Amino acid sequence: MKMLAVYKSKSGASMYYAEEIARALGGESRHYRSIPREGGYDLVVYAAGVNAGKIDSLPRMRAVLSPLGKRFLVAASCLKEPTEEYAAEIAEKNGLKPGELTLMRGRMNLARLGFFDRMILRMVRSKIGRKAEKAKTQEDRELFNALSFPTNFTDVKYILPLVKKAREGNENA
Ligand SMILES: Cc1cc2nc3c(=O)[nH]c(=O)nc-3n(C[C@H](O)[C@H](O)[C@H](O)COP(=O)(O)O)c2cc1C
Repeated sequence: MKMLAVYKSKSGASMYYAEEIARALGGESRHYRSIPREGGYDLVVYAAGVNAGKIDSLPRMRAVLSPLGKRFLVAASCLKEPTEEYAAEIAEKNGLKPGELTLMRGRMNLARLGFFDRMILRMVRSKIGRKAEKAKTQEDRELFNALSFPTNFTDVKYILPLVKKAREGNENA
């Protein structure tokens, strides 16, 4: 299969997934600033992080990448547990069909982010910190910890649904 995985990544999670997806499907991975001009791909995958529910630069990248291939899929890295419910919510918020999106658990290192991202996430951490201990959910605790210490939830297992979808789609083409 001729495939291309393009990534835009703030802390490396989407870069890692783009490289693993390209390796699994025998394709190539590229940073979003060095996209090949020539199209003709069977599949183009865009890998980027979820920021406040939105997939980083998706509308712009979709417009650029869709014409390069027969199929377009999105691999989005997020900090929350990538449940089916959360994936459905993110797909809807970003104007994607559920089948076009695969959510993958990413990483967090506040120190490596830019000023505004750090400021927003410090506010999220303070809000959780102010909650009464009894009122905190497991998700709150995980998020608080990830915003306090560098955390890496990336795992190659998260690419499997996308790889399966890509292979099935290619057989049916
Ligand atoms: C400003 C900001 C907002 C974020 N919002 C969310 C969010 O709404 N849901 C979530 O699960 N993760 C959120 N995250 C965490 C990122 O999705 C996570 O760090 C992911 O690994 C980013 O992928 P990347 O490292 O490839 O950019 C946010 C991160 C930043 C910096």
